[in-house]
Order: sequence, then C-alpha cells, then structure tokens
Amino acid sequence: MTKNLDRREFLMAATAAGVALTHGSGRAASAADMPALLGGAPVRKGGGGRSWPIVSESDEEAVAEVARTGRWYRNRSVEQFEEEYARLNGAKFCVAVSSGTSALFASLGGLGIGPGDEVIVAPYTFVATVNVALLHYAMPVFADSDRETFLIDPAKIEAVITERTAAIIPVHIGGAPCDMDAILAVAKKRNIPVIEDACQAHLAQYHDRKVGNWGATGCFSFQVSKNLSSGEGGAILTNDEAIAAKCYAFHNNCRKPKVASYDFTYDGGRATNLRMTEFQGALLLSQMKGLAERAETRSANADYLTQMLGEIPGIAPARPCPGATRNAYHLYMFRYDPTEFANMPRSKFIQALGAEGISASGGYGPLNKAAFIQNALNTRPYVRVYGEKAIREWEERNRCPENDKLCEEAVWFTQSMFLGPRSDMDEIAAAVRKLHSHAAQLAKV
Ligand SMILES: Cc1ncc(COP(=O)(O)O)c(C=O)c1O
Repeated sequence: MTKNLDRREFLMAATAAGVALTHGSGRAASAADMPALLGGAPVRKGGGGRSWPIVSESDEEAVAEVARTGRWYRNRSVEQFEEEYARLNGAKFCVAVSSGTSALFASLGGLGIGPGDEVIVAPYTFVATVNVALLHYAMPVFADSDRETFLIDPAKIEAVITERTAAIIPVHIGGAPCDMDAILAVAKKRNIPVIEDACQAHLAQYHDRKVGNWGATGCFSFQVSKNLSSGEGGAILTNDEAIAAKCYAFHNNCRKPKVASYDFTYDGGRATNLRMTEFQGALLLSQMKGLAERAETRSANADYLTQMLGEIPGIAPARPCPGATRNAYHLYMFRYDPTEFANMPRSKFIQALGAEGISASGGYGPLNKAAFIQNALNTRPYVRVYGEKAIREWEERNRCPENDKLCEEAVWFTQSMFLGPRSDMDEIAAAVRKLHSHAAQLAKV
C-alpha cells in the first residue's frame, strides 16, 4: 500500500491514521494531541499486539496426551520435534535440550571447550551467552558491537583472537542475523569453531539459509518469551554428525541415543543431564504450527514500522547487516538520540511511551562491565589457570566503547506487539511522533 506513496504522502497518511485511530475524527486536536504524561489522551487505549504465549486447544491436547501415556521422559515427541526442527531450518541434525543456556553449554562441552580456553562473545546479549563460557572455566573475551546493527562487529573479532581462542559466539540479537560471511571468514582463517547464539532468532535468515545453520552449532531457546516456546527448552542445530553426537552425549550424561535404561556403557567425555521432557517436545510440535505465519506477521508489521520510525529525527531502527534476508523480530530495536528530543533522557522517553499505552524497555546494560564476571574471574580456579596478571588485565582488554554507547541509546519493543493489525504500528509511530513534537515540554516535567 505504501509503495505508491512518496515520503511526504506516506508520513501524512500514517500520521492521519494514527490520529484518527487515537482520537476519533470529531475531537479537537489540541488537548488530545498532548502527551499522556502531560495530561493528554493516550494514543493506545487497548492492549495492542497479542498476549503471549498464544495457547490453542492443540497445545492443551498435546500436553494432556503426554500426561496420559505416562511417557514423560525424552521420547517420541522430542525425537519428532528434533526431526521437524532440523528440517524446518535445513540442518542435518538437531539435539533438543532443556533450555537455550543448555544448548550453548552443551555446544561448548561438545566442542571440548575448557579451562585455559578463551571464548569470544558479543557484549550486547543476554547473560547466558557469557555464563556458559564461565561454566566451562573458559575466559570470556568481548568483541565490541556495531552500534548501527546492535550485533558483534566482525572487524573487532580478529583483534581479540589469541592462540587460546577456542570458540566465537556471535549472537543474532533480537532475531537480527549477524554478518556470518565476515565472521566465518575470520574464524576459518584461524580454524576456530563458531557457535551461533540464535536463541532469539527462530526462522531468521541469512542469504538463503536459516540462522543457526552456519556455524559448528546453532543454539535456540524456547523459553516462554521466545517466538517459539515451550515454557523452557532449547535446541542445538548442526550439520556435523560428530559434533551432534558429542553434544548429545554431553546433554545425556555420556549415554548414547536410545540406550536401554539399564545399559550403563558410556560415550563422549564430561557430561551432564540437560534433557528435554516429552511435555516440552509435544508442546513445541503443536506450537510450531503457527510459527511461520506469526513470523510473516511480525516481519510485515516491523518493516512498516521501520519506514515510519526511520523518518522521525532521533530514532534510528537497527540496520540489517549485509546478507541478512529475514529478521525474526524477537525484539524490535532502535536507538534513541535525546539531542533530537530536547535532551529528554531515554528513561523519560520510555516512561512517556508507556503513558501512551506503548510499552518499551531500555534493554541490556554493558555485560563486559558486570561485576559477576570479575567475581568469577577472581576465584581460585581462574587465578590458577590464567594467572593473576591476565585477570588483572582482563578489564582493560575487554573495553567495548561502542557497546557502552549502544546500551545507553537502545530502546526495544517485544515480539508480541508485532502480532496485531497494521494499525498497531500506526499507533506506535503516532506515539513517537507525539513525543517528538512535545519533547521540550516533556523534558521539563
Ligand atoms: C541471546 C540469548 N542467549 C541465550 C539465552 C538463554 O536461553 P534460556 O533462557 O532458554 O536458557 C537467551 C534467553 O533469553 C537469549 O536471549
């Protein structure tokens, strides 16, 4: 619809839609136009988007059926899910596990990562990406973000590689595919495996292939907020049979697939129990039915919103990296520049958006500066393995100035806000425009 409009017409149409939706055509514009934080009418009066998770009768039946059979442990539903999830993503192998954290943990375990190794991680991510390195007593090493894409900057990776580097974990944050060509080129040169953290990136695509299908492994989360969910759950994708077997052994206490309960022969090396239950497998099979359609809806809505937000001074939607062909939009991320909003701080902007009925968040803080990492590094095992000097120098070696700025500028909307009608996007854009045009007044309160 917007294709035939020029930029000005598009903006006017979008504004008119937003205003009409908000206030009805008969009302005086002035009072209604005021930000809700200053006493005006909120742009959105209903909820917008969809409540999450979306529960169907098929979900209820799937879980009830597992309950009835008494086969509550890893069984046919989990195996069927593994087959279907591998097929959906074009990967040869899938190992279902108990969470996204487990998927990353088992990937590192399967690749034999351990004390003395360094693991390069993206700093703009959920804490689990770093925790899994620490759980293996590996040293996390941060490569700075590209602020425009919110993703690890491939140009920063090479500089932090050492002879200890044993893995690189790029994160397709928010569902935005990383620049895998550039990342894999650096990794291949040094023969370092890449573990994709695709925990937020179900069905996201890079060139003609799904993400999670480019590195040695790709890791997914099915925690309840995720675009595909079973409350908790995770999966590892790989195209390498040996890696699949090692990850499987790691997650299954060194036991092979389909061993009889009383077969106590073991395979692999260090291991634990990270198995998915049959309830999760059955629920995922049911939830997968709506996955592709919901992905389409999010994409269409997000693209439409990007056209509108991109026109507002001080709002910079995350830029796709070269080669990214589909964003999963687990998060809709943009940068907010307060200087274009009369120096209204981001926290006030988010508060004012909330008053308009549009919930937003400021997202992650700078993970490389989090005290828990220093606490972990200053424990006896780390000091013994890496030495006091390396631990003392860690902070300086892991500065990420671009990511620091990104953490101050970022604003997020969540995926379920993109599952409603297109008019929801008009409301979001209308709210942001309203805050922009009243920024000076808002900044004073
Ligand atoms: C980027 C990222 N990595 C890892 C994880 C960990 O997944 P889970 O919560 O399923 O353990 C998450 C989940 O929030 C995530 O967003």
